[in-house]
Amino acid sequence: MSASWDEARRDRRFARGAGGGPLWHFLRGFIKHPVMVGSIIPSTRAVVDKMLAPVDWSQCKLFVEYGPGVGTFTEQILRRMAPDATLIAIDTNPDFVRYLRGKFRDSRLFAVNGSAADVGDIIADCGFEHADYVVSGLPFSTLPAGVGPRIAAETHKALRPGGAFLVYQFKAKARDYMAPHFERIDKGFEWINIPPCHLFWGWKA
Ligand SMILES: C[S@@+](CC[C@H](N)C(=O)[O-])C[C@H]1O[C@@H](n2cnc3c(N)ncnc32)[C@H](O)[C@@H]1O
Repeated sequence: MSASWDEARRDRRFARGAGGGPLWHFLRGFIKHPVMVGSIIPSTRAVVDKMLAPVDWSQCKLFVEYGPGVGTFTEQILRRMAPDATLIAIDTNPDFVRYLRGKFRDSRLFAVNGSAADVGDIIADCGFEHADYVVSGLPFSTLPAGVGPRIAAETHKALRPGGAFLVYQFKAKARDYMAPHFERIDKGFEWINIPPCHLFWGWKA
């Protein structure tokens, strides 16, 4: 049996069990890296549906997700995406990346262990020039100094004209980082989440 087969089997076992389901894996991620994870439970379906509502799936070849965690958004993006589209999910936490690889057996998904700040290099490594949409679940207010503004700038560069940066966050900090790059930023709010959260859609002109 090849090493990659062994790894895939181990990842599937890790995602299925290894001591619990998605909520347990998420909580464990928070206990290990509270500042980077920034929340003790995943987003609700209400946030996911509202955030993804303006996406034109017929015009989406590459979707990028920052901070997928245990895949709350990932699952719904894969459901809506065209069969020939690609989703690149980037997370700094290797446990979450391993969990995603085990949970989703979908050839359209690339789960990458890395930082959203390197989105340009990551999508180029996967063979793409531009992303159509980027969604972020990053805790912008607690990221190390300078990382938030860099992620906003790199995301703007990585998007195609007409593409959008979709951001949900408990505080409105992310908007300050988006404002220098995105002329039009639509705003929303979702109460059905713990805690309730802000939503922003930054459109690249
Ligand atoms: C609040 S959790 C969001 C989880 C999930 N998307 C949800 O909505 O339930 C934040 C996630 O961002 C990841 N993260 C933090 N800094 C990051 C960075 N610079 N690049 C990519 N992921 C990062 C954390 O590991 C964690 O998975």
